[in-house]
Amino acid sequence: MAEIKMPFEPFRIKVVEPIRTTTRREREALLKQSGYNIFGVPAEKVTIDLLTDSGTSAMSDEQWAGMMTGDESYAGARNFFHLEKAVQSIFGFTHVIPTHQGRAAERVLFGSVLKKGDIVPNNIHFDTTRANVEVLGAKAMDFARDEAYDPDSGHPFKGDMDPDKLKRCIESKGPGRIPLVLMTVTNNSGGGQPVSLRNIKDISEVCAHYDIPFFFDACRFAENAFFIKKREKGYEKKSVLEIAQEMFSYADGATMSGKKDALVNIGGFVTLDDDAWAERIKNALIISEGFPTYGGLAGRDLEAMARGIGEALDEGYLEHRTAQAAYLGGLLDQAGIPVFKPFGGHAVYILADRFLPHIPRKKYPGWALTVALYREYGIRAVEIGGVMFGSKTGRGREEAYPELEMVRLAIPRRVYTGAHLQFVAEALIELHKHRDKIRGLRIVRESPFLRHFTARLEEL
Ligand SMILES: Cc1ncc(COP(=O)(O)O)c(C=O)c1O
Repeated sequence: MAEIKMPFEPFRIKVVEPIRTTTRREREALLKQSGYNIFGVPAEKVTIDLLTDSGTSAMSDEQWAGMMTGDESYAGARNFFHLEKAVQSIFGFTHVIPTHQGRAAERVLFGSVLKKGDIVPNNIHFDTTRANVEVLGAKAMDFARDEAYDPDSGHPFKGDMDPDKLKRCIESKGPGRIPLVLMTVTNNSGGGQPVSLRNIKDISEVCAHYDIPFFFDACRFAENAFFIKKREKGYEKKSVLEIAQEMFSYADGATMSGKKDALVNIGGFVTLDDDAWAERIKNALIISEGFPTYGGLAGRDLEAMARGIGEALDEGYLEHRTAQAAYLGGLLDQAGIPVFKPFGGHAVYILADRFLPHIPRKKYPGWALTVALYREYGIRAVEIGGVMFGSKTGRGREEAYPELEMVRLAIPRRVYTGAHLQFVAEALIELHKHRDKIRGLRIVRESPFLRHFTARLEEL
């Protein structure tokens, strides 16, 4: 068996934040209080927090220094122009419209261009993206290639969209009902898998043929570009920046959550070429986020994002980032824990229905695993399965489940070391040995949208 090497951290640690520990009894009480929903557990009561890689990055000394240069003028702050220049140099679109985070970018874009009855195709919509489409009465449809749903397929670009599925949708529904096509890079809900440049070109051609704008949900564009460099023939010698520029050259615009590949704790933007759409978006922004040169952010936040988005393209950083997921995933895989393969950029996904075969889908095995992982080890992970994506069908009686029932161990950027990841692997390996003791749950209270954030459950 190949040796799994702990990755070398390409940074020195200048500021530290203590990790507090809790007892099992404390964690048990916290679970009860939160309705067995780990979103309700205070972060200080978490030992290793792998809930998300979003907004949880450690900023660099350069970014922190930039925060001190924040220009807090209401309009036209210099930091906006720094951000505009940084984004234009990578994405290449004319308009850069800041927002406070990714879902706000989705809201102002979709709110400006979608209407009831429209359809938005994607490889796989992320939960907030789906909700922002559907809250407007439009339909979010997923057209990932078949391998995306096969956790054992070793296909290097499982994030790809299937051009034939997309064409069939356009032909059957009519291009007039599709104001835009989205492409999520990397495909978070499908295991953090990358999309190839070949596929980006193909989808762009389909969109151009039917005259439909093509947009990226670009949260993890740098990780996607790095995978293209590593896996796609012809790109080995190109820089990650050149690859990212080429990716965006086939599109009409993008929404971005800066909380991922711009290495900030808050921030996002919409970027696009179309002047008429940009004007509508800016008008929507003014009534919800703020003036178009700050979009809900302080000048210092704009500066941190302007600096972070360039740092995210550093190849030494990306090498370490992807090695962390490969290290954690490799340790789990070697111990016989069912994991989604190949390992993506930002997280390791456990196949919860295989980890807990005695718990049926209707008792939410993924959720049960997140509860057990917190109860026994204080580790917080997130379910990406039946609670997050399940939906009621058949007059609200039967629940439909997504194809994959997973638990995501998302790795915050530059926050945890190899030793932390080793601790997580050891905890999961131990838990796996005693998996038959883990119980399923039922939902006792839920909201109509994004129910996983606030649902209350009880153990069966
Ligand atoms: C693929 C994808 N799109 C959109 C979003 C929304 O971004 P934000 O959390 O900044 O609103 C996320 C967040 O995790 C995401 O992963």
